[in-house]
Amino acid sequence: MKIAILGAGNVGGALGRLWAARGHDIFFGVPDPNGDKARKAVQGLGGRGNAVTNAAAAAGANVVVLAVRWGAAEQALRAAGDLKGTILIDATNPLAPDLSGLLIGNTWSAAEQVEAWTGAKVVKAFNTLGSVLFGITDFDGMQADGFYCGDDEIAKALVSNLIAETGMLPVDAGPLRNARLLEPMALLWIDLANNRGWGRNHAFKLLRRKF
Ligand SMILES: NC(=O)c1ccc[n+]([C@@H]2O[C@H](COP(=O)([O-])OP(=O)(O)OC[C@H]3O[C@@H](n4cnc5c(N)ncnc54)[C@H](OP(=O)(O)O)[C@@H]3O)[C@@H](O)[C@H]2O)c1
Repeated sequence: MKIAILGAGNVGGALGRLWAARGHDIFFGVPDPNGDKARKAVQGLGGRGNAVTNAAAAAGANVVVLAVRWGAAEQALRAAGDLKGTILIDATNPLAPDLSGLLIGNTWSAAEQVEAWTGAKVVKAFNTLGSVLFGITDFDGMQADGFYCGDDEIAKALVSNLIAETGMLPVDAGPLRNARLLEPMALLWIDLANNRGWGRNHAFKLLRRKF
């Protein structure tokens, strides 16, 4: 698949490396395609991709991933061109700059805002786990859960496969409006990591009984 990733930072870079290793072609959309950051991001792809403008990355992509800071999200999406009907993974969290809370929540979510901006088939995913753990998802024999939600079943099936390819167990968390629940989970992960002494070696796991 051709995968466009808007933002080649912690999240975008990690996802790009993992998916390139699984045979996908990765096109990072970056502010400066000729800069050092872009060159470094591409080095991790083993020849399976490039760093280009957002519009060039998104053109003809099977799926577009939004992996920028929330404050840059609208601009990054606009620079990608017309995304109506495109399968779009929203990995953002609308964090306050000091990480003390969410800028959007309860009655609205970043994912719904992304859908409103673009008309894309948005699936929320990859937002509930620190990117340092992408690809390192075994916790003493238990697999970290990768929660996702969205309104388009075909888009969700595709994203579920992409989540599995990063080593997480995909967990369907329902419609896109449930991003209102997944985004605060990220804040809990961050608070445990930064303020409660948990560090970065923890992940969410949903326990289920068969009956
Ligand atoms: N870090 C995590 O563990 C984690 C986990 C889950 C979800 N998230 C969420 O995922 C998003 C990305 O986080 P991150 O940690 O990967 O951030 P990051 O390391 O700061 O990476 C963001 C990247 O986006 C680039 N960027 C800025 N404006 C852009 C534009 N208009 N078009 C394309 N790229 C642009 C930045 O480039 P420049 O540096 O050149 O500006 C930077 O390389 C955030 O919303 C975050 O809340 C983070």
